[in-house]
Order: sequence, then C-alpha cells, then structure tokens
Amino acid sequence: MPLLQVIIASTRPGRQGPAIAEWIAQRARDHGGFEVEVVDLKQVDLPNYDEAQHPASGVYEHEHTKAWAASVARADAYLFVIPEYNHFMPAALVNAFTFVNREWAYKPAGIVSYGGVSAGLRAAVTTKEALVALKVVPLVEAVSLPFFTQFIDDDGAVVPNEIMQQSSTVMLNELVRWEAALRSLRADS
Ligand SMILES: Cc1cc2nc3c(=O)[nH]c(=O)nc-3n(C[C@H](O)[C@H](O)[C@H](O)COP(=O)(O)O)c2cc1C
Repeated sequence: MPLLQVIIASTRPGRQGPAIAEWIAQRARDHGGFEVEVVDLKQVDLPNYDEAQHPASGVYEHEHTKAWAASVARADAYLFVIPEYNHFMPAALVNAFTFVNREWAYKPAGIVSYGGVSAGLRAAVTTKEALVALKVVPLVEAVSLPFFTQFIDDDGAVVPNEIMQQSSTVMLNELVRWEAALRSLRADS
C-alpha cells in the first residue's frame, strides 16, 4: 500500500497543529487508501538550511539532511497540516522544503489549512507555489478550517463538522488517484 505522510508544519510551544494532524491522519487511516505516517517538523528539528551544495545535486553533508532526505523519499504522497503565520506558511515548512529537492518530486500533496477568517488559505497558496517548484502536484481539493478553534474541544481533540468530513474524503480520493497516476513518472526518475 502507498505511504502517505501527514506533515505537521507548526513547531511552536502550545501549537494546535498536532490535534488537527491526528484528526486527518485518522481520517486517512479509515479511508483505507494509504498506509499513514505522521511526520512532525518539531521532532525532525532541522537547523536553518546549512548545506553547501544545491539540494538538487543530492550531495548532502549533514546527517540531519540525510535523515530528512530519507524521510521525504519514503513517502508516495503528502498531506500538509498548515497554520497561517502573517499570511504565509510557517518558516519551519519553508526550511524543510529547502533542504532536499528530488525526494519530493512527482508526488501529490493535499493541504489542511487552518486559521482565523482566512482558514489559512493564504498560507495554503504560498505552500502550493513552493510545492510546484519541487515538482510536487498540489491538489485543488483541500480541507480549510476557518476560526479553527471552534472545531477543538476542551480535551484538545478535533470535532469535525460535515464540511470537514466531506472535503477530507474528496481530498483523500483525489490523492489516491494522483498517487497512482504519478507512479510512472517516479519510476522513470
Ligand atoms: C506568528 C503568528 C502569526 C499568525 N498569523 C496569522 C495569520 O496571518 N492569519 C491567521 O488566520 N492566523 C494567524 N495566526 C493565528 C494562528 O492561526 C493560530 O495561532 C494557530 O493556533 C497557529 O497554529 P499552531 O497553533 O499550530 O502554531 C498567527 C499566529 C502566530 C503565532
């Protein structure tokens, strides 16, 4: 079964990202199209980009880069869980994108964004621009959480509404289709 990585983009103390990631990871497991792995950028703990060679060379000096490259390469599809910081994606995600290059290529990505009135959509748009440069195919179908704290209960668990349930199913169905369609490109490269 193909591997889907749910990547948590927020790293600050007190962050809400893991709760949202756990919800969408469980949706993906229940969906059944993928083996699911949660990747937490806080635990990955990359320093600011510190490689001498262009990442497209695949020449990595540092152990943290080699470990991150192996993690990114392992996945067949991605699902990014993204808050909006100053109308942009979190710096930790930009940094994680920068470290490696070919390992991302020819895989589809869904986005779960969250924020205030914007539902994190500006962060999602900036993320899509970055993904295209890495030859990742960002999906149109997405899950967008406006005023997202309304969906988190007193125990810190996500309580989804009908729109979240439906949009996540549509996004996961599309991820399955794109993952299969892009396999031949991955095999050729
Ligand atoms: C540095 C910073 C900038 C933020 N900028 C935005 C923003 O531009 N738009 C928005 O909707 N929410 C913004 N927020 C509020 C976040 O949506 C909210 O804090 C959310 O919990 C962040 O996700 P996290 O808890 O996983 O870090 C910002 C929060 C922080 C800490």
